[in-house]
Amino acid sequence: MTLQAKARIDAALKVTGQVKYPSDAAVKNPVYAYFVTSAVAKGRIKSINTDQAKRVDGFIDILTHENTKGEIKTQVGYPGFTNQTVETDEIQHDGQIVGMVVAESYEAAREAAHKVQIQYEAQYAAPGFDADGITIRSVEGFDANFKAPRKGDAAKAYEQAPVKIEAVYETPTQHHNAMELHSTICEWQDGKLTIHEASQFVYRRAYLADCLGIDEKDVRVLSRFAGGSFGSKVSCTVRAVLAAIAARRLNRPVKLAATRSQAFTVTTYRAETRHAIKLGATADGKIEAYIHDAYELTSRPSNYNLAGGIRTASSFYNYGAVATSVSVVNADRNMPGWMRSPHELVYMFGLECALDELAYAVKLDPIELRRRNDTQVDPISGVPYSSRSLMQCFETAAQAFGWQRRTPEPKSMRDGDWLVGWGCASACYPANIGASAAGITLQTGRRAKVEIAFQEVGQGGSTVIAQTVAQTLGLPLDNIIVELGDTNLPPGTITAGSNGTATTLSAILDACEKLRARVAAAAVSAKGGLFHAGDAAALRFTDQGLSGPHGDEPLDTALARLGGSLRVIGQFARPDAPANAVRDLGRGIPLFGGHRTKDFIAFSHGAQFVEVRIHARTGEIRVPRVVGAFAAGTILNELMVRSQLMGGMIWGIGSALHEATEMDRRAARYVNTNFADYMIPVNADIKDVQIHLVPETETRLNALGVKGVGELGSIGLNSAIANAVFHATGRRIRKLPIRLEDLV
Ligand code: MOS
Repeated sequence: MTLQAKARIDAALKVTGQVKYPSDAAVKNPVYAYFVTSAVAKGRIKSINTDQAKRVDGFIDILTHENTKGEIKTQVGYPGFTNQTVETDEIQHDGQIVGMVVAESYEAAREAAHKVQIQYEAQYAAPGFDADGITIRSVEGFDANFKAPRKGDAAKAYEQAPVKIEAVYETPTQHHNAMELHSTICEWQDGKLTIHEASQFVYRRAYLADCLGIDEKDVRVLSRFAGGSFGSKVSCTVRAVLAAIAARRLNRPVKLAATRSQAFTVTTYRAETRHAIKLGATADGKIEAYIHDAYELTSRPSNYNLAGGIRTASSFYNYGAVATSVSVVNADRNMPGWMRSPHELVYMFGLECALDELAYAVKLDPIELRRRNDTQVDPISGVPYSSRSLMQCFETAAQAFGWQRRTPEPKSMRDGDWLVGWGCASACYPANIGASAAGITLQTGRRAKVEIAFQEVGQGGSTVIAQTVAQTLGLPLDNIIVELGDTNLPPGTITAGSNGTATTLSAILDACEKLRARVAAAAVSAKGGLFHAGDAAALRFTDQGLSGPHGDEPLDTALARLGGSLRVIGQFARPDAPANAVRDLGRGIPLFGGHRTKDFIAFSHGAQFVEVRIHARTGEIRVPRVVGAFAAGTILNELMVRSQLMGGMIWGIGSALHEATEMDRRAARYVNTNFADYMIPVNADIKDVQIHLVPETETRLNALGVKGVGELGSIGLNSAIANAVFHATGRRIRKLPIRLEDLV
């Protein structure tokens, strides 16, 4: 199946400002909430003085640990939590939620929150890597499901290898900073709670219900649109719990929005990682040993980690031997979480830079080096890739980029005052797939309504759903209504890990087939009808209605036999899913992964090529062009795939050159918590972004052959840029982001 390259069905609504985001929900007589956050990173609250806050005109109430004891049954865990909220007096990170003021206006709530006086018993806080007081724990030590990839005797192979590369690569703290702030509206009616909050998995309401001690069926979560999420809105959080409690106490709707600055500490983020990598190779570039010891920062109580990234990296080339380890480093920080391409963006960075270093060491073109180490089989498990077109991606991108004109010597392509560097790197992302239900109602007038608690976060999910239904049922696209993001709808998959299109459309196609079967069965049993006593299996929906060997029947005629309207529920779960995967979704348990089976592993692939220009005197870094070629199985709607990949590539440029959350290590506090000081790429930073789609046939992963592209585009660009910087300057920068101070 392919779809037309159409723009998003919600595009006009969005660009004309008509989309209603969760915070736009109209509620009667709301109160406004504002967080009070901790001014220290570790210690205890000695006292809270609210006298001045209470004198603010419009002040209504404040929630703190002193008056909510027992009311919040918070579970510290993953995903989506900060460490602690107001349930105790303990402070575990800077900017922790310690109270929430509610008032008649946002301004009053904000003013009162700033007038709350808190006395702390502050203790030393460990800010991050290399600090006193951190603990380092091996993931294998606490996660029985994780086994760090190993193959052969890597230490010995490295020792004996004629060519050795050894380096440490680092990625920084980064925050998602979606345009839409983290906002929540909570409203109670007759003991039932409605929450308007942007979400990547609305059925995580189960967590909220647990925290509030109520039945999950009494919670409705609505997230019809999100103004960006990127992993930061994975699930309902303790923030919503606080808003819900305030709304229950006051019997009025509560509107809560964390500020841009607060979002740096009351939500998750990409924490810094460090990778000690050794490559041992033969003189002609065959990698005999790959040794990778990774360290990931996390909060004090959390086991959160991205160890899956080392599995990807360990499967990626045809290594002779492999030895890896992943450790978490607990510090006094808020809890990290997924951020676009979470595992691969940080784990592939070091590997793809190390490959470039090896290419120079063995005097090989970096594409040729990758060709010599390419594989169609996972070297760790011996299981084949379902499909892998990595080298085709390199060929396509290299051709489009003009790579053959590159002179490999560093600093050899100077253009006046500008040092020109060309670099490349591989991209890959797991082809995940999960479980989903999907309701479709077929109506007269060639109309259909789709109901599925999947989340539109800007990726275009609602568009491919509508297109698939229109095409499969033979209906005009404009006649399809898609209802998403609502726990009153059949459960859909979590919007994460690039699994959405493959999973959701599989359930949609099941629903379409059920509709076909029901309408066809009615048609063959109807006396006097065109298809009477025919073969139901031979009937299809087409633009003409119901079509078969004997002609076509208008859809309304066929549907009239079933009362003019027919609703079915489709279902899909990947073959190795637990028996009750769809039911579990409805209970707030998403189904992750799916890219590693006993028969194959499944990844999408790409090749990223970058030109950097670095001013010889100022060190100013420009990226005039990037070229990416990608293979991701079936490309359904090419326009949207391109736009997803382009967004990812721009994200990759930002992750390499701009984005970093800076810390005052003395206070374990983020300091650039605003859009003025937290650098993100703007239009002036992004020039020519070229995307090529490499045809790829994927038959084993799912019936559609879809691998997903939401996160693929942002991977590898950081390495390609670092490699291009080396080519331009002869300086190997192994720590992101690369800034001009690294180059002057
Ligand atoms: Mo996405 S970072 O997997 O939510």
